[in-house]
Amino acid sequence: MTKKPILDVACGGKMFYFDKNDKRVMFMDSRCFETTLCDGRYFEVKPDIIADFTDIPFEDNSFSMVVFDPPHLRMNGDKKPTGYQHIKYGALYNGWQDMLKKGFKECFRVLKTGGFLIFKWNETEVKVSEILKLTDEKPIFGHKSGKRSNTHWLCFMKEENSKHICDEFMAMFYEKLGKVGKS
Ligand SMILES: C[S@@+](CC[C@H](N)C(=O)[O-])C[C@H]1O[C@@H](n2cnc3c(N)ncnc32)[C@H](O)[C@@H]1O
Repeated sequence: MTKKPILDVACGGKMFYFDKNDKRVMFMDSRCFETTLCDGRYFEVKPDIIADFTDIPFEDNSFSMVVFDPPHLRMNGDKKPTGYQHIKYGALYNGWQDMLKKGFKECFRVLKTGGFLIFKWNETEVKVSEILKLTDEKPIFGHKSGKRSNTHWLCFMKEENSKHICDEFMAMFYEKLGKVGKS
């Protein structure tokens, strides 16, 4: 697969892109479909790659920028979304906190050291402060937008000594320790 500098792990309908075919971006989403919304508008999710952001199929330190705009609307149980917002943006099902936690971890894993994660969150239902508890990484700056200023754009950077690298080191350390114990 072509090497691109940017990975969008939940591109959806690519609504915030100037160019939906921007060659610098690897577009990923767990869905691929086209439909007509209830208001008659055509809508499609056509990623370059269908994959899950809790298990991103790329090597560590692969991208200079990762874009993470996960679903922000909750859905009770596991019923199929029917409202146009759920169809467009997907939904958060039971266990969503764990899903977003893994998503953050995976985004930082595939980011190069010194690379940036752009995270977008609409806090109509869940406050951004609750979401920030799901990662040990701290954003550098952010901006609020939207009619009610409830859409947050946050910028993180993967640092040399980020929690992810510590985790990796500890995993290696314990693996080596296990081998020493067995020999
Ligand atoms: C808020 S929308 C993204 C909107 C997009 N940024 C845009 O500009 O139109 C969230 C997207 O996350 C996708 N998604 C939900 N769970 C996912 C997962 N585990 N892995 C990858 N994509 C996922 C949904 O299919 C949905 O398209």
